[in-house]
Amino acid sequence: MTTQSLEIMKCTHEKQKPNVDELAFGKYFTDHMFIMDYAEDKGWYSPRIIPYQPLTLDPAAMVFHYGQTVFEGLKAYRSKTDDNVRLFRPKDNFTRLNLSSDRLSIPPIDEQQVLDYLKELIRLDKQWIPTEPGTSLYIRPFIISTEPNLSVAPSQSYKFMMILSPVGAYYAEGMAPVGILVEERYTRAAPGGTGMAKTAGNYCAAYKAQEKAVAKQKAQVLWLDGKEKKYIEEVGSMNVFFKINGIVHTPELSGSILDGVTRRSVIELLKSWDVPVEERRISINEIIDASETGALEEVFGTGTAAVLSPVGELLWQEQSIVVNHNETGALAARLYDALTGIQTGAVDDPFGWTTVL
Ligand code: COI
Repeated sequence: MTTQSLEIMKCTHEKQKPNVDELAFGKYFTDHMFIMDYAEDKGWYSPRIIPYQPLTLDPAAMVFHYGQTVFEGLKAYRSKTDDNVRLFRPKDNFTRLNLSSDRLSIPPIDEQQVLDYLKELIRLDKQWIPTEPGTSLYIRPFIISTEPNLSVAPSQSYKFMMILSPVGAYYAEGMAPVGILVEERYTRAAPGGTGMAKTAGNYCAAYKAQEKAVAKQKAQVLWLDGKEKKYIEEVGSMNVFFKINGIVHTPELSGSILDGVTRRSVIELLKSWDVPVEERRISINEIIDASETGALEEVFGTGTAAVLSPVGELLWQEQSIVVNHNETGALAARLYDALTGIQTGAVDDPFGWTTVL
C-alpha cells in the first residue's frame, strides 16, 4: 500500500441543494467525491477529492461483465444544536468492506487511511448534511474492477470511490410497519456463496422476488435459507429480529447473512437493557406457530439505510399473519429512539460508537 498525500480539487460551481421534503433516498449527490486507483505494481495510488462527475470507463471494464465490485453504506449526522458532524461506527464499515473485497478477490484498502479521506470529503461538503429529524448524509464507498479484459479472472486494476447523498426516510412508510412476502421460490444467498459480502449481485438477484412482493402489495421479501427453504435469513436488504414471549431472536450469522452494523448495535443495546437476545437458526414454522399462540410480539428489520423498520404483516402461502395489530411495537420504537439519539448526538453515547469530526 503506498501512502500518498490527498489531492483536493474544489468545484468552481456549487450545485443547488434540494429541499428537505424532496430528499427520499439516494437521489441527490453532493459537490465532491473521492477517488483513488489501484494497479498491481503500485497498490492503491493517487487519492483525490474532485468535483462530483461522471466516469469514463472502457466498455470491456470487468465490472460490467462479471460484477467484481463491492460497496458499503454508512451515515453522517449533523447536529442542529452544536453543528458537530457524527459518523456512526465508521471503522466497522471499512472492516466489512475489506471482508467483502476478500470474498470477491479485490485487494484490501487501508481502513484508517480511507476513514481519514472520508472525513476530509465530509468536511468539504458539510453544508449538504441535512439536520431535520430522520435525515442524514448517506455515504456510499465502493470499489469497481476496471481492467479492460473479458477473461474470467480477477481484475488487475480497480477504482475505489466515495460519494455522498443527503437522504430522508428509506421507505416511503417511514417508521410505519410494512407488509412482507415470505419468499419460497427465489433465494438471496446460498451456503458458500457471497451472502455475507456487500456485492452488487446479491442485490440485483433480489429484484425478481421484490417484484412479486410489490405485486402482492407488500413492501419487502422475507428470505429463507437457500438449502432447506426453512430458516429465516434477512428481510429485504436488512437483518431481521423477532420478539417472542419477551425474548428477542435474530438469525445467527451463517455465512449467507450480512453482518449488519445496525444488527450488531441492536444486540448490544438489548444486552445493555437486560432484554434477552438470542442469535440462532429460526424456522418460518416456528414464527407461524408463535403467531398462532399469540407469542409473536414484534418483528422488525434493521439496516443502515432505514435504521429500523417494523413489520406489521407476513404473507406466507397466501395466509396473512398480522403482527402486533400492524402497529409499531414498544421495543422497536425504543430501539429506534436509542439508535437515532446516539447517531445524531441527541443522547449520550455510552458505547463510544460515534466519531465526531
Ligand atoms: C442497508 O440497509 O444499509 C442496505 O444495505 C440497503 C442499501 C443497499 C440501500
